[in-house]
Amino acid sequence: MSRLASALLALATVAAVAVAVRPTVDVTATVAFGEGYTPLFGFDNILRSADDRTVSLLLDRSTGSGFISSAMYEHGFFSASIKLPSDYTAGVVVAFYTSNGDVFPKTHDELDFEFLGNIRGKPWRMQTNMYGNGSVSRGREERYVLPFDPTTEFHRYSILWARDAVVFYVDDVPVRNLRRARAGRDFPAKPMSLYATVWDASNWATSGGRYRVNYQYGPFVASFTDLALAGCRAPSPTEEGCADALAASDPAVMTLAKQQAMRQFRERNMVYSYCYDTRRYPVPFPECDLVESERTRFKDSGHRLSLRRRRVGHRPARPGAANKADM
Ligand SMILES: *[C@@H]1O[C@H](CO)[C@@H](O)[C@H](O)[C@H]1NC(C)=O
Repeated sequence: MSRLASALLALATVAAVAVAVRPTVDVTATVAFGEGYTPLFGFDNILRSADDRTVSLLLDRSTGSGFISSAMYEHGFFSASIKLPSDYTAGVVVAFYTSNGDVFPKTHDELDFEFLGNIRGKPWRMQTNMYGNGSVSRGREERYVLPFDPTTEFHRYSILWARDAVVFYVDDVPVRNLRRARAGRDFPAKPMSLYATVWDASNWATSGGRYRVNYQYGPFVASFTDLALAGCRAPSPTEEGCADALAASDPAVMTLAKQQAMRQFRERNMVYSYCYDTRRYPVPFPECDLVESERTRFKDSGHRLSLRRRRVGHRPARPGAANKADM
């Protein structure tokens, strides 16, 4: 072997070892239901496709349903493409979230996507929230209208939980970025499971409980596919390396373009923010960036002034989106 060839071989070996020891996180990998999840409740209302890559959760008169990840994760990228129930869905809630409330009831951590059903003709609203170390008295709810109809096609919803930040994504657009340095002790710090559920929230979901679930329109079906569980399994000695890899992964890197897309989404679609809810929280939380031009669009209840006044350029205002601010 020539000196050059052996030098190249030595280099290649070093590179291979370096690659082998650095844990990687493939945020694009999807799994079959049985590879990553187990049914949680309402077993008869969980319908799995023949290839096991799509699962539908039903809510009917007898019960809702839900599934849970088979493992717990400390940090991760959790994602699913979801199609929400259509037609009259008042009182119906579809949730996609991480939590460890079963393991740490007093000091639990949680990251939420919650989809709140609506009366016919009015759009679903989406809520995101975070709890850390039992911060249940400090809800950090934000609500948004979606810039598409989430009942006609699948859209991807993702939660990135990295060491220093949580980012919620809708399709490939970041819609919320919570940094640990700002949220401090309320930032999730213990292993969590991933959950997906559909349930009857008649007392809360739609206009504060004004509209209850009407089972004449049931069963309500939420379908999940493109299931991704790119997480650092806990407990695991490689967790450090995995968390590093996750921090360097695409979803964790907030490029300028992503920050701009996030700002635009929030300007157009956010209809409630705990940061502007000075009735509930007279002193805003440390992670709240209070932008004066933005604050004037919200009432002191945290709800947005009527969306009808918004000028959204090329997109006509949707009739159903009006007056959402009061719900
Ligand atoms: C979490 O909460 C518990 C109980 O309130 C407290 O003792 C502990 O110091 C907290 N942990 C962190 C990391 O803040």
